[in-house]
Amino acid sequence: MNDNNDNREQFSSRLGFILAAAGSAVGIGNLVGFPVNAAKSGGGAFLLIYAIFVVVVCLPVMIAELAIGRNTAKGPVGAMGKLSNQSSLWRGAGLIGVITPFMIGVFYTVISVWILGYLVMAATGDLQYLASEGSFDEYTNSNYIFVSMVGVAAIIYFILKLGVKDGIEKASKILMPALFVMLLALVAFVLTLDNASAGVAFYVIPDFDKITPSVINVALSQAFFSLSLGMGILITYGSYLNKKTDIVGAAKMVALADTGVAFTAGLLILPAIFSFNPGVNTDELSNSSVSLIFVLLPKIFLALQDSIGFIGASAIATSFFLLVFFAAITSLVSIIEVPVAYLIDEKKQSRKKALATLAIFGGALTVVCSLSFGMWGAVTEMVNYGGKVNSMFDVIYDLFYDTILPLNGLLVCLFVSYRWKKHNLNQEICEGNDGFEGSFMQKYINFSLSTFIPAILLIILLNTIADKYFATSLMNIFG
Ligand code: PHE
Repeated sequence: MNDNNDNREQFSSRLGFILAAAGSAVGIGNLVGFPVNAAKSGGGAFLLIYAIFVVVVCLPVMIAELAIGRNTAKGPVGAMGKLSNQSSLWRGAGLIGVITPFMIGVFYTVISVWILGYLVMAATGDLQYLASEGSFDEYTNSNYIFVSMVGVAAIIYFILKLGVKDGIEKASKILMPALFVMLLALVAFVLTLDNASAGVAFYVIPDFDKITPSVINVALSQAFFSLSLGMGILITYGSYLNKKTDIVGAAKMVALADTGVAFTAGLLILPAIFSFNPGVNTDELSNSSVSLIFVLLPKIFLALQDSIGFIGASAIATSFFLLVFFAAITSLVSIIEVPVAYLIDEKKQSRKKALATLAIFGGALTVVCSLSFGMWGAVTEMVNYGGKVNSMFDVIYDLFYDTILPLNGLLVCLFVSYRWKKHNLNQEICEGNDGFEGSFMQKYINFSLSTFIPAILLIILLNTIADKYFATSLMNIFG
């Protein structure tokens, strides 16, 4: 039965929804995380595994999340509660689906704050500084981050206060096309650089030797995160979707846009690295995406001044950070909309009050998390596990991104298959998609969500726990 939540806002069109969901999906993970992971993990071989995961595992989960949201017109807690006769177990599962984006929002905001800082510095002629040794540590430990934090918070607040149609949808309709254009223009430029083709070759030619169980694990986590799954986001966005929209078709478009941007970002990053340093040893390529964007890329941009002058180099750097910033903003908006919708639906707060509540609690946590790069010892060296000392940022990342995302995905699969039940799921998907009943897609979704997808997610979850917290792997435990 459908909820008669007449006042609930909806996306104004299918395209509006697709751009908003793609805005959520396309983020720092696509533009930076994906190319780095692909480079470290066998180039074309990683691409292949990633693409298979997107189609075989992620797409059904995405469709399930959208169907749960649209059917109930509620966020994760309300939706899972409603479809389970208010079982506290499933409401609890929904609650994890609200806490997760809240916490991921914290570390994502910290990175977005740095990106805004770098964007402003690149645009105001500070590229030389950004490329200098030690500037990243200096910047992240300076008071400038708080100025930038206010900037990011103001933008997010402004967009979310306007609501679903005038805020989220409109921002995505402007930022996403701008992002596509900037990305293509930057790729076209980078491909003209000397030695760029070596980067392209490295990126697309498969090296199957590099494929190990841990690479497979990385590919799935990356795909999950990139498509914004397991975070209640698509349940929440689904709750703003009208009954005429074909969920399967829309999900395919979102997955395609997200994967297309991730792939294209690789055509930007890898040729740039190879042209900067033709002898690059990709095994030593920056260990993390963070050091790639903030440490290596500014050096690459600055080196461009030999051929296009300092202004030209600064313009390229500025467009790059603007591109990443746009991607980060539309993702952040979606992450924060989940707890906002929770406070509105379940705690009966107004949108404005919900935003204020989150500004206080999320803001405080973000500030503390920003201090965990050296400014405050207690959070910089917070706990010891997995054989190393971890900062608060590391803890949030390991716990929510790496561990809880696959857990949430697993819960969604179990929920739709065994609690809400397949026939209800199918009935919801059929709205706006008459041909779904009896189709191959239907059989595939029903079978996969009740069998091998939860199994794969469980293995990934256990492996991550073994790896992160016990510095071992499932292979070592059972092997
Ligand atoms: N999918 C986004 C990315 O790839 C990140 C994101 C995570 C967005 C969580 C929303 C929620 O960067």
